[in-house]
Amino acid sequence: MPPMISTHISCLVLSSVLLLANAFTQHFSTGINFPSQPHKAATTARYSTITYQDATKNDLQISPSENKPGLGKVAIIAGATGYIGRAVVRECVARGYHTVSLVRNVTYALTDDALSGSSLVMCDVGNEDELNTIVQDIAGGKHLLESSIVTKPPPIDLMVSCLASASGIESEVYAIDYAATLSFLNAGRANQARHFVLLSAFCCRNPLLKLQQAKLKFEAKLAEQQDMTYSIVRPTAFFKSVSGQFESILKGNSYVLFGDGTVTHCNPICERDLATYMCDSALESFEKERWGKVLNIGGPDEPLSNRKLAEMMFESIGKKPKFVYVPTEIFDVSIGMIEWIAKNFPSEKWEDVLETAKIGKYYAVEDMLTTKEVEKFGERKMMDHFEQIAKDGQDPFTPVRATAIISQTLEALPVLSVSLPIGLGLASKPDLVQNVVASSPLANVPLLVANLMDGSLWLN
Ligand SMILES: *[C@@H]1O[C@H](CO)[C@@H](O)[C@H](O)[C@H]1NC(C)=O
Repeated sequence: MPPMISTHISCLVLSSVLLLANAFTQHFSTGINFPSQPHKAATTARYSTITYQDATKNDLQISPSENKPGLGKVAIIAGATGYIGRAVVRECVARGYHTVSLVRNVTYALTDDALSGSSLVMCDVGNEDELNTIVQDIAGGKHLLESSIVTKPPPIDLMVSCLASASGIESEVYAIDYAATLSFLNAGRANQARHFVLLSAFCCRNPLLKLQQAKLKFEAKLAEQQDMTYSIVRPTAFFKSVSGQFESILKGNSYVLFGDGTVTHCNPICERDLATYMCDSALESFEKERWGKVLNIGGPDEPLSNRKLAEMMFESIGKKPKFVYVPTEIFDVSIGMIEWIAKNFPSEKWEDVLETAKIGKYYAVEDMLTTKEVEKFGERKMMDHFEQIAKDGQDPFTPVRATAIISQTLEALPVLSVSLPIGLGLASKPDLVQNVVASSPLANVPLLVANLMDGSLWLN
């Protein structure tokens, strides 16, 4: 292969992996959201008139069906600092639960307004013994905010796992989506906790990826046990995961579409509505419909193609839509190349890169769509979200984790002595590229940034 072409293809391979890795982290990350203003977490639980000013500026939604179903009971949330975890914490606090957020870093969690009203307990969910001790302590009345509990510790009514690996690579998914989640479940079983709600994913119905396989393995364990009732909630997609190009188009870039932009359809669900649905699932009144069940759930929108999503996004900021198109075949080329490398230069790193590329392809070609009425939930539609972020700005993504994967990809590169990275699609994320490159071993390598203009590729 002439060197120019090989460089060119390398660019495509790398950039599609990066693009996808980025799309993926936006989709699944449990990562950290920085609140707009630092806030000292409340030291007493607030049961009513809660006006959280969290980063998404959503009003708190309290389930209209039940008033305060959590009063006098405990809810424990694992993965509490994640995108959905934070919404679940707010929902539990609003429902009157003694809410316990398990967090890695209390100092950090204290700055997150979304977690206020809950008690923050430092816990390494990867440590089974630690997890068990903490849940046991909670069952004994420790770690709760109220000091007025004198007679009997309140029962653990609800345990919600929002744990999810950020990267989707094999070692992480088995450690988090399977093992840590299982330890959390077992700690609940051992301490007479009542109902377990699992945040799973719609895509588990077609489990081609390791992360889905790990989730399914846990789901099987959950279904097997008899000590706790449970609900498995599988959301289609999140608002945030389809808003990834918002800043880019605000800056005047074209929107990057795969295929013609109508390859896949989705109906994402708002995090707040999802939290309501998840907490509702634990209620006795939902025993028939939602206990012991796998529940696919999406938002109230009609099926939205990526192109439609993009058009709505442009409309929300009053700009004329413009697009660039990336053929979906690029994934096959990339995956084929990475597969070849992984086979000929076996290493865990390349396996991880390969898995990352497969993840990317998966979300570019699979629908994340529910159409049955019973599988659609919530009030807030996609356009409401776009209008809101057009007005208030988007709540920041999780650059730390996205960067982690991307630098991993970059670190793997010198093995192959592939010449210069970065291209396609990354014109939409130039800052990200700069950051990544600056933090990678390639910091000293001259950087080629490819720009996509009306479908043609320019190297400069
Ligand atoms: C915990 O969070 C604080 C505040 O964000 C940060 O300064 C500190 O380094 C973090 N600690 C660890 C162990 O990550």
